[in-house]
Amino acid sequence: MNKCYASSKIFLVGFMGSGKSTVGKKLAKLLGYEFVDLDKQIEFKTGLSIQNYLETYGENTFRELERDLLQHTTYAEKIVIATGGGTPCYFDSMDWMNECGITIYISLPVSALVNRLRNAKVERPLIKNILDDTSLAQFITHKLIDREKFYQKAKFMVSGKDLTAEKLVQYLEMVN
Ligand code: S3P
Repeated sequence: MNKCYASSKIFLVGFMGSGKSTVGKKLAKLLGYEFVDLDKQIEFKTGLSIQNYLETYGENTFRELERDLLQHTTYAEKIVIATGGGTPCYFDSMDWMNECGITIYISLPVSALVNRLRNAKVERPLIKNILDDTSLAQFITHKLIDREKFYQKAKFMVSGKDLTAEKLVQYLEMVN
């Protein structure tokens, strides 16, 4: 396993639509850190959208690539990393992130996730064919049952409701 020892790395984890990329980008700016979005890295590296990649190579290959990129990228010393919703839930990636830096779980209830994802399905292959809110809520509920145990290994958990980068900075100052 490729270990990483620096401490100023902030990994944001949580379900699709929880705000990892949006808040993460602003958080990095406020802190004067670099920012990286793992999904964007995958797209850059492969030259394919996540959707095309998943359709072409399947989920298992996607998860391996996601793990490899997460764990073998040479990161800036001070960086905020927005992970994909599934990143912490495969292989040893959650433990790896906990060893490498600060992990923050941005948590939202199913109803809020449905509201956020209802109009953001196109770019998310796992949910793009789910048509109605009830089915979307069922999908999220089932996924969360699997995923919460990984997300909850994060060092910190914050509510994604009305979360801003400023609030996150205040929170980090309080707990550190
Ligand atoms: C996924 C979440 C997506 C992306 C891929 C799979 C997931 O990232 O990595 O579509 O398994 O939850 P976001 O959480 O940034 O949407």
